[in-house]
Amino acid sequence: MTATVSSNKALLTAANLNKTVQVGEQSLAIIKDVSIHVDAGEFVVIMGKSGSGKSTLLGLLAALDYPDSGSVKLGEQTLSALGEDALAAIRQREMGFVFQSFHLLPTLTVAENIAFPLDIARRPDQVRVDELIEAVGLGHRRDSLPNQLSGGEQQRTAVARALVSRPKIVFADEPTGNLDEQNADQVMQLLLDLRQQTGSALVVVTHDPALAEMADRVITMHDGVINGSKVNG
Ligand SMILES: Nc1ncnc2c1ncn2[C@@H]1O[C@H](COP(=O)(O)OP(=O)(O)OP(=O)(O)O)[C@@H](O)[C@H]1O
Ligand SMILES: [Mg+2]
Repeated sequence: MTATVSSNKALLTAANLNKTVQVGEQSLAIIKDVSIHVDAGEFVVIMGKSGSGKSTLLGLLAALDYPDSGSVKLGEQTLSALGEDALAAIRQREMGFVFQSFHLLPTLTVAENIAFPLDIARRPDQVRVDELIEAVGLGHRRDSLPNQLSGGEQQRTAVARALVSRPKIVFADEPTGNLDEQNADQVMQLLLDLRQQTGSALVVVTHDPALAEMADRVITMHDGVINGSKVNG
């Protein structure tokens, strides 16, 4: 359904990822030998029931967490071999994030939250920020603080923030999970529209089958492994 802006070249390549957590005396494997790639511009959805490992996998792909073994490459860079500072720089420059619970900075206005990734990268661009504020329909709310916004408005702010620096890849963990159907549709449409404009790849964890239909590819997880992969045509 969605036009693919894929170059058919893998942007993100994860190979043989394993992650174990310690629960009391027991060590529990929660990601088991998972390999996955995401092409430039591709829209990949990850589904699977609660506890199957979706958020853990997303965290590994986005280098928010280290695997116990296996590797994650973004372009030519092996993320799993880098230290925290280098990873932080790559996340800042090349990745965008949207979380279920919005994660806006509470003391910053809508405009300042959206500008934040550009500001910390010392690449301020007010024109781009203004363009994004308008694109997500929050021109009248630019000076509001997050706690003065509805959930839908907060998530539209988060979507604008995720895309403002034209990242190569955007990760979203149940971005519509806290929204009613109407707001969920609007937020998802904005995410897809902005992605079309930037050509960013998009990896979304969701329980929403309607969203999965819009993806280029749907991956299903079960008990720490990928047990299904379907290309939408
Ligand atoms: N730090 C941790 N310590 C112990 N167990 C953990 C930890 N993080 C995750 N788990 C367990 O690993 C499994 C996978 O968790 P994960 O959050 O990735 O699931 P999920 O697919 O995102 O679920 P949901 O749909 O509910 O968000 C779960 O059984 C969870 O309880
Ligand atoms: Mg989760």
